[in-house]
Amino acid sequence: MRHLLSLADVTAAEMARIFEISADLKARHTRREDHRLLQGRVAALLFQKPSLRTRVSFEAGMAHLGGSSMMLGEEAGWGKREATCDFSRVLSEYVDVVIVRANEHQAVEELASFATSPVINALTDYLHPCQALADLFTLRELRGELDGLKIAFVGDGNNVARSLAIACGHAGVQFTLAGPQAYTFTEEYQSRLKQVVPDLDLNITEDVVTAVKGVDAIYTDVWTSMGQDQERKAREQAFAPYQVNAELMKHAPNAYFMHDLPAKRGLEVTDEVIDSPNSVIVQQAANRMYAQKGLLVWLLTEASV
Ligand code: CP
Ligand code: NVA
Repeated sequence: MRHLLSLADVTAAEMARIFEISADLKARHTRREDHRLLQGRVAALLFQKPSLRTRVSFEAGMAHLGGSSMMLGEEAGWGKREATCDFSRVLSEYVDVVIVRANEHQAVEELASFATSPVINALTDYLHPCQALADLFTLRELRGELDGLKIAFVGDGNNVARSLAIACGHAGVQFTLAGPQAYTFTEEYQSRLKQVVPDLDLNITEDVVTAVKGVDAIYTDVWTSMGQDQERKAREQAFAPYQVNAELMKHAPNAYFMHDLPAKRGLEVTDEVIDSPNSVIVQQAANRMYAQKGLLVWLLTEASV
């Protein structure tokens, strides 16, 4: 049973294949051509945290593909009403894919360990693989070729940054993380990256100006992720020097500005930058749907034979 809990669960060639399928499905959708490749298939969405993009893009995507989806609420009782082994095995009998957004990554790993339908990680505290797929799919559209591109991720070494680093490793994209030492990738995560994407060109620095020079894209995310509200004050202080503003963009005038959204305008990014012509945030968000459609088709057809 193949799951997609991390982009380490796919090879570089498989990620490239997902992008190929995504591009084809996007073209067909744009031409209003029938692409009901998952007719009769059912997705369950199990979300412990809020979402606009992930939830709606998965549900709309399943509908375009001729399948259907259902959002399971708290009352389904995951982790509360019965043992996860029973919950997961039974849910797998009803649906073809389980799409999970959870507070704790380990909970998704546990769910997947018992699932007999594929499980997709729709964000945990640790990783956000679907976001990274859409991000590189967007750069692929903008630049044609990913190999040799450079991304500077400015801010928190969080779930979004961790997944993007793996995706970059698969695609031959240089990844620089610029942020305060206390919030950068742990030694343990750096070792993990060496293991899963040994060819990743990874740079870690506190020097944001040097980090952004010559890059193709500057990426940032919120300083305080969902579930970290009690750390907000300390985080806002620590990350203040890492705001992506017009002054910083001057050091990479041709770079795209990227953000997974939702953004806290005025904190990690200024209005001026997020609304500038360099900003590709809406294309990124739109591509969540196309990249996930590619992922769903790949996972439920080619990866399941
Ligand atoms: N970027 C992202 O995952 O957005 P949502 O939290 O709205 O799903
Ligand atoms: N790092 C953010 C991403 C939201 C899509 C969070 O986990 O809240």
